Amino acid sequence: MSADASYRVAVVGATGQVGGVMLALLRERGFPAREIVPFASARSAGTTIEGVGVVQPLSDETIQGFDLAIFSAGGSTSGEWAPRFADAGAIVVDNSSKWRMDDDVPLVVSEVNPEALDDARKGIVANPNCSTMQMVVALKPLYDAAGIERLVVSTYQAVSGTGKKGVDELLGQAHALLHGQDAEVGVYAHQIAFNALPHAGSFAPGDDHTDEERKLINETRKILGDPSIRVSATCVRVPVVNGHSEAVNVETRTPLSPDEARELLAAAPGVTVLDDPGAGVYPMAIEAEGRDDVFVGRIRRDPGNERALDLWIVSDNLRKGAATNAVQIAELLHSRGLLRGARARAA
Ligand SMILES: NC(=O)c1ccc[n+]([C@@H]2O[C@H](COP(=O)([O-])OP(=O)(O)OC[C@H]3O[C@@H](n4cnc5c(N)ncnc54)[C@H](OP(=O)(O)O)[C@@H]3O)[C@@H](O)[C@H]2O)c1
Repeated sequence: MSADASYRVAVVGATGQVGGVMLALLRERGFPAREIVPFASARSAGTTIEGVGVVQPLSDETIQGFDLAIFSAGGSTSGEWAPRFADAGAIVVDNSSKWRMDDDVPLVVSEVNPEALDDARKGIVANPNCSTMQMVVALKPLYDAAGIERLVVSTYQAVSGTGKKGVDELLGQAHALLHGQDAEVGVYAHQIAFNALPHAGSFAPGDDHTDEERKLINETRKILGDPSIRVSATCVRVPVVNGHSEAVNVETRTPLSPDEARELLAAAPGVTVLDDPGAGVYPMAIEAEGRDDVFVGRIRRDPGNERALDLWIVSDNLRKGAATNAVQIAELLHSRGLLRGARARAA
């Protein structure tokens, strides 16, 4: 990264799980920021994040003078404040689902479609949904080699995907049940401790898929730039604190052997293959935690379809599924010269 660049960066949602990882990653990866300003809701404004600074509230005054704003504060905050940051000259990288399917907003995975960054006509770039993100990193090399006709996906999603409140709910219920008390249900429709809920996300009236399943379907097509891919998705919340797992059946357009797939995946950026199941080697959420890669294993032929493979894909949803990709997008914006331009345009 060039040493002379130095940006003023806003992190919106800095007190949250994703925001916390984002702050750490900006530092760890040496992003050239001359100042990082944390923002959160009025509840936390005025508190101090050690080593970063005093949390700011969102207002017309506080959002001025930024080159980059990274949002992880939910869809309604992004809906209201991302365009305002963009109007004030920042490029926004948004983690919420608010802007992902907007035609004027690129939906970018750094290893898959970085070229889409040039189409950020609104000054906003969207970071995909966590389950979609890890899946497309693994699918991209297979797609390039053999095309993809159909995907059948079942997710096993961690409670950290629901925010801090999801983690508190699982740990609170597990503690209560192990101590002979009743589990209080607040965040999910049913008890999550010692259970599996075929209900990750929410059901819109009249829709038999959750919004999480719709995201997986629609975002996969947008990122791979191929609306013809058929996707069947079932998103399940499981009592895992952090790290999403996915069983993915991939029907390619031309046949691909498990060995060919293993070789393509081993050479792909951001992917680590862990595939020696007889020796107990396969990706697991507890081992993916705190790491940036997408882990793929259990690579095998679907016995019922000579053009289909089965994969098991695992990643840390707070890192590659959210914060890591957002920071990688910021790095790409910097290396493509797309950051400074924005503030100059607004000036
Ligand atoms: N968790 C994941 O795996 C994941 C993956 C991809 C994307 N995302 C997205 O990232 C976002 C945050 O997720 P999270 O897991 O970090 O949630 P979280 O731990 O609940 O944190 C939420 C953050 O948003 C802030 N916030 C809430 N309402 C706000 C408002 N009105 N104005 C300004 N800030 C506000 C909170 O500030 P206070 O502390 O002041 O309340 C907090 O900093 C969501 O949009 C989520 O969809 C999450």
